[in-house]
Amino acid sequence: MLAVKAPMGWNSWNTFGGNINEQLIMEMADAIVEKGYRAAGYEYVIIDDCWSLKERVDGRLVPDPALFPHGMKYVSDYIHSKGLKFGMYSCAGFMTCAGYPSSYGHEFEDAKQFAEWGVDYLKYDFCNFPSSGDAKNAYLTMAMALRNSGRDILFAACNWGVENPSGWMRSRGAHSYRSTGDIFDVPKSYKDIFRSQAENIENNAPGCYNDMDMLIVGMHGKGNVGLNGCSDTQYLQHFAMWAFMGSPLIIGSDLRNLDDENERTLLCKGLISINQDEECRPAFMVGHNGDKTYTMAKIMSGNRIALGFFNLDSANDWENNMSISFDDLGIHSESGIALKLTDAITGEALGIYKDGYRCNIKVDECKVLIGELIGDERRVL
Ligand code: GLA
Repeated sequence: MLAVKAPMGWNSWNTFGGNINEQLIMEMADAIVEKGYRAAGYEYVIIDDCWSLKERVDGRLVPDPALFPHGMKYVSDYIHSKGLKFGMYSCAGFMTCAGYPSSYGHEFEDAKQFAEWGVDYLKYDFCNFPSSGDAKNAYLTMAMALRNSGRDILFAACNWGVENPSGWMRSRGAHSYRSTGDIFDVPKSYKDIFRSQAENIENNAPGCYNDMDMLIVGMHGKGNVGLNGCSDTQYLQHFAMWAFMGSPLIIGSDLRNLDDENERTLLCKGLISINQDEECRPAFMVGHNGDKTYTMAKIMSGNRIALGFFNLDSANDWENNMSISFDDLGIHSESGIALKLTDAITGEALGIYKDGYRCNIKVDECKVLIGELIGDERRVL
């Protein structure tokens, strides 16, 4: 089964847009291995839009020989030789978003072509889709084509949330579905995506995940979706949100020269362990104060529950006092059960808490905890 857990990897779009070539992709595969990303769980190396010639040749998609002089099988073999998996990009419309040929009406032959190149992951976009077309059927068609291709290819649907795919993409065969428009490298962008999905992730489960778009962590305004960038604190909050929500974790920054702080963020073991927990349960919202502060929880395997406190406010810089009552986690005071809490970001053991937890979270900051249930539920009151 594919996508048992939310997919993790790297994609060329956020930083490089159309400036891609085989050397860049291979260098990124090297960086993923050498800098510890593969060991942390990142496995897909995904080439986004702009990889092909502008016209099909004999009905086939052809990699631009100026960019990929050795062809796609060569890049694919290199990525596989590094113990990684290979991802590519096409689109459900007549042309990709950047105006390259895409797969409308060519689904079955394109899927076979991707399989021949050793593709393991296909991102499938939604630009230039005919207005008379049926989106559900278009994604179903590519899902069937990939299944028929002779190779296991993870199907990453990308229709930007049109017709709320959380309700139907799983049944149409996708393994992930983009639920929003494109992310940009400014705080408002990731915060708005989080707000829009905080209560739309109940369908996250093995086999199909809500993709909140590629990460902007560490981009600092550089690259293709770069506007003014975010602070390192905001990048950590963004990563913690994506990890907590069970979104695929697809890095968008240049891993060859990322600064130490953002490298630490992307490699944060505690946050990744929440995203990749073996039960893969969706998070749920415990409470929110308007669109400013959010408290989330997520049941984890092994008698554990994760807690997330996020302060998205931007209008002021005072600390927000946030709290959670364990009643809201189904753990009532009379049960005698307490939570042994660990900070998922720092690894610090925080001690044993009964009834609830309270913390001050500054604007743009977050706290993510993993709690282990302890105590004697047979206690006689
Ligand atoms: C759309 C997608 C992006 C990216 C571009 C490529 O905008 O949502 O993630 O793939 O197309 O052109």
